Amino acid sequence: MDKNGKIFIAGRGGQVGSAIERKFRKEGYENIIGLRSRELDMREQAAVREYFEQEKPEYVVLAAAKVGGIMANIQSPAEFLYDNLAIQNNIIECSRVYGVKKLLFLASSCIYPRLSPQPMKEEYLMDGKVEPTNEGYAIAKIAGLKLCEMYNRQYGTDYISVMPCNIYGYGDNFSPTRSHVVAALIRKVHDAKISGAKSIPMWGTGVARRELMFVDDLADACFYLFNTYSGNEFFNVGTGTDVSIKELVELIMDVEDYHAELEFDPSKPDGMPQKLMDVTKLAEAGWTAKTSLKEGLKKTYDYFLHEVLPKEQK
Ligand SMILES: NC(=O)c1ccc[n+]([C@@H]2O[C@H](COP(=O)([O-])OP(=O)(O)OC[C@H]3O[C@@H](n4cnc5c(N)ncnc54)[C@H](OP(=O)(O)O)[C@@H]3O)[C@@H](O)[C@H]2O)c1
Repeated sequence: MDKNGKIFIAGRGGQVGSAIERKFRKEGYENIIGLRSRELDMREQAAVREYFEQEKPEYVVLAAAKVGGIMANIQSPAEFLYDNLAIQNNIIECSRVYGVKKLLFLASSCIYPRLSPQPMKEEYLMDGKVEPTNEGYAIAKIAGLKLCEMYNRQYGTDYISVMPCNIYGYGDNFSPTRSHVVAALIRKVHDAKISGAKSIPMWGTGVARRELMFVDDLADACFYLFNTYSGNEFFNVGTGTDVSIKELVELIMDVEDYHAELEFDPSKPDGMPQKLMDVTKLAEAGWTAKTSLKEGLKKTYDYFLHEVLPKEQK
């Protein structure tokens, strides 16, 4: 890959896109472009064409997507399907028209069938029905991945796809209504510490298991594959290990140095009992995750204390 080549990171302002930009810059790639959605609505085909015509990027990372939690997915399934189809169709087709040399598409582990055997292997994709609560999002992501594959077959393009597990770390959203599990628990324990609470109420039983990856590791894997892989396979990107919600909150309490009783409420849903990916294929391609969960949680707590809280308090 040419170090001076122009790289368009669609979704550059998001958690994953910004981590990928940091990684490329760290490796000496400076010619990076991308706009916020208010400047370029990537659902608009004409606007995207105009941008490609003007900028003529040589490489594209497609990390722009409408992303949301379970409630948002249930309330606006049509938006999750339409917006994501539109964004990815426009970027992928314009990449072909304007001769982009390589494109990387970010899919998601939630597109595997709901009842997939665990750990989930790449070959299980489309073996069964997806989770109904995020069906619109999942169908769009499957279409994006297939579009990359079929463009390669028909047009000889070099488009690759990755399937990340749950991501946490820098750029996480800590808002009480929109946060992912790690950010939500970090805030919960922090609030308990500040108020001196002796117990912390928890949703569900705490036995559900999740695979969690530090966002900089995902960026590292994307950079690695961008530079080393061409072909029609896609890769699970995860740590290959999982943790129960109870173990996770105990680790967070260690990191924050505050320990309280955990009051689990089994009347609340646990979600899927386990979501773990098989990462053998990625390991065989030469990449494994480097950041331990404890180390990643420490960095995320630091980010929360020094970047997120001060902004909230302004
Ligand atoms: N985070 C995870 O746990 C995770 C896990 C698996 C896969 N992924 C995948 O990684 C990708 C990025 O996710 P993320 O967590 O970084 O999400 P995010 O923080 O919500 O960022 C989404 C990005 O998409 C942009 N975007 C949304 N709608 C747009 C539109 N209509 N026009 C132009 N840009 C638009 C946003 O731009 P503005 O901010 O300017 O609006 C933002 O930069 C997604 O494809 C997601 O499926 C994420």
